[in-house]
Amino acid sequence: MSFDNLDTLYRQVIMDHYKNPRNRGELEDDSLMIDMNNPTCGDRIQLHLQVTDGKVEDAMFEGEGCSISMSSASMMTQAIKGKPIDDALKMSGAFSQMMLGEDVDSDDLELGDAEALQGVSKFPARIKCATLAWKAMEKGINEEK
Ligand code: FES
Repeated sequence: MSFDNLDTLYRQVIMDHYKNPRNRGELEDDSLMIDMNNPTCGDRIQLHLQVTDGKVEDAMFEGEGCSISMSSASMMTQAIKGKPIDDALKMSGAFSQMMLGEDVDSDDLELGDAEALQGVSKFPARIKCATLAWKAMEKGINEEK
């Protein structure tokens, strides 16, 4: 697939998550609620996580923000559901690496649709939009640990 086609595909994946967000809403019986904002624009996310026996049983989000932040939250919740918390943290590290334009060893990490955001690394002003949900997840899990 050419780079142009890949860009188009990635754009479609991002817009699909923005227009049809997965896991949007509140989680009943959530064990963790993390409220985080992007200091550069003030947009916020509330992330709800249900963590049981070291595993992310469920993840949902609320909040308002740009297409990148909201699609990233949708992709992130999709990616971490059902994963051990250590894997969720590793995924977040890999996502940050991807945002820095570094190569990610994808063998042991499945970022899923979130890989569609790799082009954001070329726009430093938008990186905080893309990492907002991931940072919220990291904060929640680290506090839980
Ligand atoms: Fe606010 Fe992207 S512009 S999160």
